Amino acid sequence: MHSIEKRTLLVSLINLALFQTRKKMAVAYAIISILVASTAASASQCFESIISFGDSLADTGNFFLLSPPNKPPYCARPPYGRTFFHLPTGRSSDGRLVIDFIAEALGLPLVESYIAGKNAAEKGGRFSKGVNFAVAGATVLDTVFFDKRGIHNRVTNVTLGTQFDWFNQFLAVIPNGRKFVKNSLILVGEIGGNDYGNPLLLDIDPKAIRSFMPAVVNYIGSTIEELIKLGATTMLVPGVIPMGCLPALLTHYKTSSTEKDYHPTTGCLNWLNELSIYHNELLQKELSRLRHLHPHIAIIYADNYNAMMRFYLSPHQFGFAKESILRACCGGGGPYNFNGSALCGNLPRANCCENPSLYVNWDGLHCTEAANKWIAQGLWEGSYTHPHIKTICPSISSPAGFQYHHYY
Ligand SMILES: *[C@@H]1O[C@H](CO)[C@@H](O)[C@H](O)[C@H]1NC(C)=O
Repeated sequence: MHSIEKRTLLVSLINLALFQTRKKMAVAYAIISILVASTAASASQCFESIISFGDSLADTGNFFLLSPPNKPPYCARPPYGRTFFHLPTGRSSDGRLVIDFIAEALGLPLVESYIAGKNAAEKGGRFSKGVNFAVAGATVLDTVFFDKRGIHNRVTNVTLGTQFDWFNQFLAVIPNGRKFVKNSLILVGEIGGNDYGNPLLLDIDPKAIRSFMPAVVNYIGSTIEELIKLGATTMLVPGVIPMGCLPALLTHYKTSSTEKDYHPTTGCLNWLNELSIYHNELLQKELSRLRHLHPHIAIIYADNYNAMMRFYLSPHQFGFAKESILRACCGGGGPYNFNGSALCGNLPRANCCENPSLYVNWDGLHCTEAANKWIAQGLWEGSYTHPHIKTICPSISSPAGFQYHHYY
């Protein structure tokens, strides 16, 4: 009880500090970015900047800043951010995201959210090392598409198309836009997870979801083509994560599932993971089509799915606890510690684990910093980029502090 009281006090203090003004937060955030950049290993010299599109897996503050000030979204509340930033930054995690570890590995500052610095763009400099257009909840397909199918449960109307429009507006106001694009590592996603996650939470037939997966992937493909027209030379395109291992979906489909629906070793729902695999197969086919059309452009697939499956198959190797492998660290109880009416950020109704680094999942839908760090490690050191990122950037530094746990 004692430590819970202390935490609640801390949480209220952070809350108070957080909601005084957003400007202050942006300043704190910029300082954090600078500190992180200066502690990062020597720059790899491969890329001068990072440009990012995506959803909550990559959002470093846009969704937070787009929300009405009197309605802070989930990711703007403690205990989000508690592990690394020690305050919520709008990231959907307890700490850093994969994009943050990518920035560190490249010796670049953490990528600032476009909304945080939008009005400063014409003053120059602010986004010289990177700009992030990713928005939590963003889909690839647009609102009209989902509305037509009775799928209204999105948290934002921002789509990949909206983010691309912002990008064009951004290019129109910065000097040497084409050079900026050319010298950037461009992260196209992860995006697509919400196109499937929203309908899944409404019990839409998985066959119907499969039927529009090619449209999602085609849209991602045409965005890549547009980026190439604007001067892009290197793109990293992640697949979707294993949806069948997410506490939110495991909880939602618990009552309708039988023993044989689950993977015997991991406990993940097979049919949901098959949906992820299908999207990722379509995406890889599309990327290989684009590589043939544009042989001088580096189009790298990031296999987040298999980088993550390692956690579920051998948790101890990554320092995760086997008993909590499918449980959210922060949530409202139940077998997966997920409860849609007591979400993380809704303290004290939701609880938060003592040690997030023992967990893969943070809040039912998103990874912990520990998992994000291992995903990034899998991209640099493992075999989870195709073609391998080191064939494009041999000097890329590995994220610091990786130690396999040799329990197996
Ligand atoms: C999306 O746009 C519609 C129509 O403008 C609006 O009614 C709705 O509230 C918006 N949804 C979100 C989540 O912003």
